[in-house]
Amino acid sequence: MSVLVLGGAGYIGSHAVYQLIDQGEQVVVVDSLETGHIGAVHPNSTFYEGDIRDLDFLRKVFKKESIDAVIHFAANSLVGESMENPLKYFDNNVYGTQVLLKAMVEHDVKHIVFSSTAATYGEPEAVPITEEMPTIPTNAYGETKLTMEKLMKWTEQAHNINYASLRYFNVAGARESGETGEDHRPETHLVPIILQTALGQRPHITIFGEDYDTEDGTCIRDYVHVEDLISAHLLALDYLKAGGKSDVFNLGSNQGFSVKEMIDTARTVTGKEIPAVGGPRRAGDPSVLIASSKKAKHVLGWQPSRTSITKIMQDAWDWHVSHPHGYSEGVEHR
Ligand code: UFG
Repeated sequence: MSVLVLGGAGYIGSHAVYQLIDQGEQVVVVDSLETGHIGAVHPNSTFYEGDIRDLDFLRKVFKKESIDAVIHFAANSLVGESMENPLKYFDNNVYGTQVLLKAMVEHDVKHIVFSSTAATYGEPEAVPITEEMPTIPTNAYGETKLTMEKLMKWTEQAHNINYASLRYFNVAGARESGETGEDHRPETHLVPIILQTALGQRPHITIFGEDYDTEDGTCIRDYVHVEDLISAHLLALDYLKAGGKSDVFNLGSNQGFSVKEMIDTARTVTGKEIPAVGGPRRAGDPSVLIASSKKAKHVLGWQPSRTSITKIMQDAWDWHVSHPHGYSEGVEHR
């Protein structure tokens, strides 16, 4: 039997494929390559290029391959873009998941691990954020992910497909052995932007707001290493296959770092100056987001082992140094 990874050519999805194959799993990858990269597709996976909104395409994949579980990363994920073009987000994320669930029902596939987000909570009433706190998204992206969770909840009741929805905080870092890493176009995330500045590809980093109610005035986020994040997916898959009940889990490292602390960490790791200038706040940014991941640790047995921010930055830096132009020089899929 194989695990189907949707979005397996993306940053987080490709890390999942590598870990699954390390564990001896057979992996089928589906990716539209709209934001994913052919160079990120594991050479020992079976790859299909296509869109999850295309039911006939998904039917062909499910018919040809023996799939017993799905890990779903195939979604658009830029907060700013979702505010400018919400319908794109509802179409790709929500409708795409609807089509996927239909195909899973038709082919009797019973388990799905799903990539959700801290953006489902909106502005938190307190930190650390637990799974019981209200979900009031402040952007269309978070709303689509919350709607996708609800789609799974109601589908489970009718068709007995169990799911684990994993709400990510700020994912960073790269696979230690260097086969895959972070390459978004356009890049909007803090860590790669800092490191592109360290490489001299940007003149400076702009700090979005220095007047927040935090110690140094900049936003605080909870950074989790992508490899630790993926290990939680593999545990969630085992949990579902063992009959675990559908549930929602936060994935973070329970510690917060400010934008300035992240830039300072990068200066230490890279030995580069990394010019930074202050700028206005970015719309929709909460000041502090920190996860409680107690539930994932308790229920799934998750034990993140790369929680040092220096380690996260170092692994991201190693990837950037070895791939200064991302996947343009990556290996091609066989
Ligand atoms: N930031 C800057 N300058 C930049 C880029 C980012 O100051 O050039 C700041 C942001 O304002 C924010 C912090 O760095 O305070 C982190 O920003 P990111 O864009 O890297 O990440 P976000 O916290 O905005 O969002 C990420 C994911 C979302 C997810 C969210 C949940 O991209 O998908 O975490 O916490 F919803």
